[in-house]
Amino acid sequence: MFASLLSLALVALPLVSAAAAPKPGIILIGDSTVATGAGWGPGFCKDTTGLATCTDLAVSGTTVISWQHQPTEYNAFLKACTVPNTFATIQFGHNDQKIYNTTVYGANLNTFAKLVKAKGCTPVIITSLARRNFKSAHVPDDILEPYAQEAISVANALKLTYLDLHQASLTYITKLGSTLSYEFNLDGTDHTHLDPMGQAYFGRMVADLLIAKLPTLKSFIVPNATMTKAEANGTL
Ligand SMILES: *[C@@H]1O[C@H](CO)[C@@H](O)[C@H](O)[C@H]1NC(C)=O
Ligand SMILES: *[C@@H]1O[C@H](CO)[C@@H](O)[C@H](O)[C@H]1NC(C)=O
Repeated sequence: MFASLLSLALVALPLVSAAAAPKPGIILIGDSTVATGAGWGPGFCKDTTGLATCTDLAVSGTTVISWQHQPTEYNAFLKACTVPNTFATIQFGHNDQKIYNTTVYGANLNTFAKLVKAKGCTPVIITSLARRNFKSAHVPDDILEPYAQEAISVANALKLTYLDLHQASLTYITKLGSTLSYEFNLDGTDHTHLDPMGQAYFGRMVADLLIAKLPTLKSFIVPNATMTKAEANGTL
C-alpha cells in the first residue's frame, strides 16, 4: 500500500510541478486611500481568491517619494517582488498633489514604476480615488484630475497597465450625488477616506477595472454582479 502510494506520488509529482504555473500575487502600494483602515485595499483583497498573496502595503500620508522611506513596507515590497508573477499596484496623488506639481509627480512616479519593475514585480498604475467633495449636489470638485492624467501619461510612456480609478470613481459619485456619496465617508466630514461600505464598493471597482485590463486574473476575483451593476447604474 505504502509502496504503491509512493510510486504514484513519484509519477504524479513531476507532472504536477510541470503543469502548475506560479500563482499570481498582488501587493498594493499607495497612500491612505488604499491602506488598511480607510482605503479600498481591504475591500479589494476580500474580492480575491486563490492568489499567492494579496498584501496591502499602502501607508497613510505618503507620496511616491515618502512611501519609499517606510522601512517595513518598503522591505516587504522588495521581498514580495522576488516571487515570480507578483503584480504591484501603485496609487498615489492625494499627498503628492499638496507638495509637487504634476511634472515633478510624473517624474517621481516614472522613476518608482521603473524601480518596481526592476525589482521583479509587474507594476499596475492606478489613478487617484476621487475625493467626494461637491461644488453642488452633482458636481464633484475635481482638483486631482491633472494628477490622474499625469499618472496615465507615465503608464503609457512605460507601456504599463493602468486602471483609471479616478475617472471610474468620479463618474460613480457624480451619478450618486453628494448625499449618497457621503455614505462612504469615514466620518461625517471626511470626504476622502472610506468607511467599511466605501472600502467594499471601491475595492470592487478596482477588482473590476483590473480584470477588464488583465483578463488572466479573472479567475482570482470573486464576482459580485449586484455590486458591479450598482456601480454601473450609479446606485448603492
Ligand atoms: C514644477 O516644480 C519644479 C520644482 O519646484 C519646478 O522646477 C518647475 O518649474 C515646476 N514646473 C511647472 C510647470 O510649474
Ligand atoms: C454583493 O454586494 C452586495 C451589495 O451591493 C452585498 O449586499 C452582498 O453581500 C455582496 N455579496 C457577496 C457575495 O459579497
